[in-house]
Amino acid sequence: MPDDFPLQSQTPDALMLFGFWYRALPSKQLGPGEFTKTMLLEQPLVIGRGRDRQGKAFALRDACPHRGMPLSCGQFDGEQIECSYHGWRFDAHSGQCRVIPSLVSDQNLKIDRIYAGSYPCEERDDFIWVFIPDPGPAGAGFSKPASAPTPAPEIPKFSEHYKLAYLTADLPCSVDHGIIGLMDPAHGPFVHQAWWWRTQKSIHEKHKNFEPIPYGFRMSAHTPSSNSAPYKLLRLYADADSITTTIDFVLPNLRSEIIRAGKYWFSSLTTVTPITRNQCRIDVVAAWNLFRWIPFGPELLKFVFAKFVEQDRHTMELQSEGLKHNPHLMLIDDADRPAKWYFGLKNAMLEVKKNGGEFRHPMTGPVTLRWRS
Ligand code: FES
Ligand SMILES: [Fe+2]
Repeated sequence: MPDDFPLQSQTPDALMLFGFWYRALPSKQLGPGEFTKTMLLEQPLVIGRGRDRQGKAFALRDACPHRGMPLSCGQFDGEQIECSYHGWRFDAHSGQCRVIPSLVSDQNLKIDRIYAGSYPCEERDDFIWVFIPDPGPAGAGFSKPASAPTPAPEIPKFSEHYKLAYLTADLPCSVDHGIIGLMDPAHGPFVHQAWWWRTQKSIHEKHKNFEPIPYGFRMSAHTPSSNSAPYKLLRLYADADSITTTIDFVLPNLRSEIIRAGKYWFSSLTTVTPITRNQCRIDVVAAWNLFRWIPFGPELLKFVFAKFVEQDRHTMELQSEGLKHNPHLMLIDDADRPAKWYFGLKNAMLEVKKNGGEFRHPMTGPVTLRWRS
């Protein structure tokens, strides 16, 4: 019997996981003293970069704590952001209020107790990451910035010198469909057909070992059977037996893939980030030490990846047409088992957030899955 596709309630904190770091935008989209507005988990944000030498990035809630004017409508002098409605000024990094122009000298409102909402913000591997905390108690306007319990995620790297590249695409579907689309092994021969990759004729039975890891699962280290993009390129450098790959999924949205072949390595961290409940974005960031002597190597890799991501994006765009009418959906074994684990992990996390207690991992031990693709 197939399992029903898990139903989700309609409040944002039951649809998306708060209390995690999320990729907001590529670092190079913001020069010193610039800002832009964006959205993560239905939270409107203004993200900017100080004009000083460090050029540290910041993230504020895009709503003035006075009367809600988007701060992104205001002015930024590289240090403070000024609301366009009544000119209140806020420190861009802490959100603390600095100036309320309407106050006369004997009106001693304690303006330093007023804050525009601000979010922890860090840069890693050419992306600006923002920590979206669990929704706090009411009383907005007076809350100091929360701090993040962990540093932002980073791509594992295995040598001092490496190259870095990224790809990004908007997906018109919920984060859940984006994530399970990413981990779905059965769509490859249909969506990613290409003469240089594989065709429906090349479908064959596969079995892969999976094991639980904290807040996620791992496809155990194995010799890849041509199911990842850089694999065929790696074959140019090393013989097939020496190539191993490990693929991890960890909540809330992190898929990391590490391929090693002797001294060569390729490492990627792909995220699917909820923008709204019906919209998400995929960012693939990869680091590698291959191709140092081949001028077209990185371009070739980027070309292959761009093709894959575009095929997935196009598929999800078509799928979203079908999903509009809320059809009944199902998940089958074994090809959709990773999707079932994803929902199991997410629900376990939502349960902990709601009622406390211990995180109940949906896997009890290693499992071998079999499917044809
Ligand atoms: S709404 Fe921002 S200063 Fe009044
Ligand atoms: Fe895909």
